[in-house]
Amino acid sequence: MNFSLSSKALTSTKADCLVVGIPEKGDWPESTIQADKALDGMISRLQKDGDITGKNGSTLLLPLTGQPWGRLLLVGTGKNDDRNLVAYRTALAAAISAIKEGAAKHVLLTLSDTPATGATQSGSEKGRLNLIGRTLEEQLYTFSEYKSEQPPERKLNKVTVTASGAGKELKGAFNLGLATGRGMNYTRDLGNTPPNICHPAWLADQAKKLAKEHDCIKTEVFDEKQLKKMGMNTILAVGQGSSQPPRLIVMEYRGGNPKDKPQVLVGKGITFDTGGISLKPGAGMDEMKYDMGGSASVFGTMKVLAETRPKINVIAVVAAAENMPDGSACRPGDIIKTYSGQTVEILNTDAEGRLVLCDALAYVKKYDPAAVIDMATLTGACIIALGHHASGLLANNDELADELIAAGERTGDRAWRLPLWEEYQSLLDSNFADMQNIGDRSAGTITAACFLSRFAKEYRWAHLDIAGTAWNSGKAKGATGRPVPLLVDYLMSHAG
Ligand code: BES
Ligand code: MN
Ligand code: ZN
Repeated sequence: MNFSLSSKALTSTKADCLVVGIPEKGDWPESTIQADKALDGMISRLQKDGDITGKNGSTLLLPLTGQPWGRLLLVGTGKNDDRNLVAYRTALAAAISAIKEGAAKHVLLTLSDTPATGATQSGSEKGRLNLIGRTLEEQLYTFSEYKSEQPPERKLNKVTVTASGAGKELKGAFNLGLATGRGMNYTRDLGNTPPNICHPAWLADQAKKLAKEHDCIKTEVFDEKQLKKMGMNTILAVGQGSSQPPRLIVMEYRGGNPKDKPQVLVGKGITFDTGGISLKPGAGMDEMKYDMGGSASVFGTMKVLAETRPKINVIAVVAAAENMPDGSACRPGDIIKTYSGQTVEILNTDAEGRLVLCDALAYVKKYDPAAVIDMATLTGACIIALGHHASGLLANNDELADELIAAGERTGDRAWRLPLWEEYQSLLDSNFADMQNIGDRSAGTITAACFLSRFAKEYRWAHLDIAGTAWNSGKAKGATGRPVPLLVDYLMSHAG
C-alpha cells in the first residue's frame, strides 16, 4: 500500500475515488467546496434533495464520468458545533471502510480539512493527519494467517491524502500516524496469535527479530536458568506449571543523549492465563490468549520508535510466562521470595499478573528511570469499573498521571485515574508473609495496583490496567492495538 501527502489543487490529482466530508450543518470544508465546483454543484444538489444528510459516519458512493475522479465518496462528518475526536475518528473509519474492499485502486482522501474542535489530535491539521495515517493502517488491518483460504487481494493500493502543505511538520505528523497504526497492528498480530504458538520463548524470538530488523534496538533475553540465578522467583512461580518456561525480555532503544534517563515500559506477558490451580471457568477462556496484551503494546511501541527514531531513550521489559495448572504448578498458600526480597503469599494463583510484574518492576530500578509505566490486562474488576472505553490508570506521581491522561485525551486512547490511597494497602496484609497477592472482593483494580506499588517505590511510576481496552470480545473479537497511541504520544512529548 502506498500512502502519500499532496498539497496540489484537488482537480490536478486524478484518482479512482475522491473522498470528501459533508457536515450535518454549518460551513463546508474547503476541499468539499472545490469538489462541488468541479462537479457543477452536484454535491449541493444531493444535499438539497436530501440524498445526503451529513450524519456522522454515513457514506454515499457515486460513480462519476468525465471527471479527474472515477467515483465520489461523501462522508458525513456530523454537526460542526459538537464535532470532537470521537466523531472525527468515526467519520474517518467509515470512509476507509467504505473504500477498502471496493474497485478503486487509487483514492484521494481530503478529510484533513474537516473542522474539528478541542485540544485533541482532531483540533489541528497536524493532529488530523496523524489520525488519518493511524486510522488508514488500523482499518486496513487483516489477520488471516491461520485461514486455509486467503481473502481476495485488495484492489486498493494507493491513498493520497490532501493537506495544506507538504512540509516537514505535516509530513512528519502523517508519517508518525502511519507508524503508530503499524505499531498497533503489530501489537494486534502478537495478541491474535494463538497461544499454542505465542508462548514465552516465541515472544522472546519476536524481540530478537525486532532487533535484527532495526539496528537501533538491542534485545536481551533471560531464560529460566538465568531467572533462577537472578532470584526472579515470582516469575518462575507463575511459570512453573507450564511446559513452556518463562522469559524476561529486555529491549533497549537509545535514540537520546546517553546522559538522559530512560523512560521504562514494562509489559505483562502472560501468554495464556488458565488461572492455574485457581482455575478459571471454561466459557470464553480462549480470550486469555490476550493476557500478553500489555507486553504486545510494549512491542508495538518499540516498533514505532524504531521506525520514527525520536531522540529519546526507552527501555522495555516484558515478563513472559504461561499460567497453567499442573502437578508442578504453584498453589494457593505458597510463599515466594520476590526479586525485591519481599515475601508474597499466593492466595489465588489467578492473580498471576501482579506476580510476574513485581519482579520486573523491582528489576528496572537499575536503569535509574525517568519514569516507569507498566501495561497489563490485570483485573476483570477494571472492566466492571470502566468498561471498554478507558484504561485504568494508577500512579505514585501526579505529574506523570496527568501527562498520561493528556496523551490519552489527545489520541482518543483514553485512560481514567483511580486512587492509590494508603488506606487500601492493608487489604494485602498476610498472616504468614510480607503481603498476600489478593485483597477481598472490593476495589480489585486498586488492590492489584497497591500490590505493584510496593515494588515501584523508588521511581516515578504509573500502571495502566488495559483489561477492558486491549481487546474486543464478540463478533469483532480481536486485539485492538491499545494503548500504543497513548504511549507513543507520551514518549514523543519527551523526545528532544
Ligand atoms: N488476566 C486476568 C484479568 C482479566 C480478566 C483480564 C478478564 C481480562 C479479562 C488476571 O490475571 C486475573 O485473573 N485477575 C483476577 C484477579 C483476582 C483473582 C483477584 C480477576 O480479575 O478475576
Ligand atoms: Mn489471572
Ligand atoms: Zn492474567
